[in-house]
Amino acid sequence: MSNSALDVKPEITPKRQEFYDRLGKKAAAPLWEVLADIVTVKPKPVGVPALWRFDEMRPLLMEAGSLITAHEAERRVLILENPAMPGKSQITGTLYAGLQLVLPGEVAPSHRHTPSALRFVLESEGGYTAVDGERIVMRPGDFIVTPAWTYHDHGNDSNAPIIWLDVLDLPLINQLAVGFAEHHPQETQPVTLPEGDSLARFGSGLFPVDYKPAHGTTPVRCFPWDRSRKALLDTARSTPVNRCHGVKMRYENPATGGFPMATIGTFLQMLPANFSGAPYRSTDATVFCVKEGRGKSKIGNDVFSWGPRDIFVVPSWTPVQHEASEQSILFSASDRPVQQALRLWREEEMS
Ligand SMILES: [Fe+2]
Repeated sequence: MSNSALDVKPEITPKRQEFYDRLGKKAAAPLWEVLADIVTVKPKPVGVPALWRFDEMRPLLMEAGSLITAHEAERRVLILENPAMPGKSQITGTLYAGLQLVLPGEVAPSHRHTPSALRFVLESEGGYTAVDGERIVMRPGDFIVTPAWTYHDHGNDSNAPIIWLDVLDLPLINQLAVGFAEHHPQETQPVTLPEGDSLARFGSGLFPVDYKPAHGTTPVRCFPWDRSRKALLDTARSTPVNRCHGVKMRYENPATGGFPMATIGTFLQMLPANFSGAPYRSTDATVFCVKEGRGKSKIGNDVFSWGPRDIFVVPSWTPVQHEASEQSILFSASDRPVQQALRLWREEEMS
């Protein structure tokens, strides 16, 4: 069967339409009228390319801070909604993203839920997020994992606002209809582990001798920025620059060698100064957050200039081409672990 046959819809005649109307009354429908929409020749992207400038979003976030407390809001977050999906609380087909603010002295109460979350810290002078009894001090560039169904609360005992990017697998979880959530009995969960515990136990290439991975999520709760940045730049010294990605690495679950989270893959890439990348596309729609540097990315037919802390999204199977006017580092997240587990993931370096 040729591809064109899959793209073509049969003509609707009055007689056929009358039949379709009768089918509709029996909660039935003709497949041949929708086949091209639901069995697609190539991925039909969910959402459009878009960019959120941190300099524009930060004042809005601070304004939210004057309107509602973290306690009343439960989580004071401005959702980054894909412009093609207003009201859907999603940035891609499977991912939610938002900017969260915790002001000095505030606590976002402890709760847990089946969606998994990551935090990429944009601004902080020493607040914390607590996950499963461990308080993790948040510093800019840190990537923090909140596994599914682990209690977490956020607190700011510093004198400056904390702002971070949240990415959750909420749309995926809700599509599967497996969402559960509950509060911890206490507003702030008890701290049962010393600071830096998970990194000390699991982040140094040594594991407790009897350790067995309990689930697909990394036992390391925080990937600190200074270590990640050093690893990336040290690697870049001895690694050829990929023509699409610059030097790109993925965060790893040290217990399994897989991604740190079962549903969200995370990456860090360095684009050298004056890098002009070739176009690339993959089936995993990807959320990028600029950590350092300046440049622009052509996504489909749109070009977005970016600088530090800007966030942009590349929909599924949409070509993206990065340029950097100075050495730049991009953090990114996608549902690649899910696609790879299902053996559905595809990528293409284009010319
Ligand atoms: Fe949460």
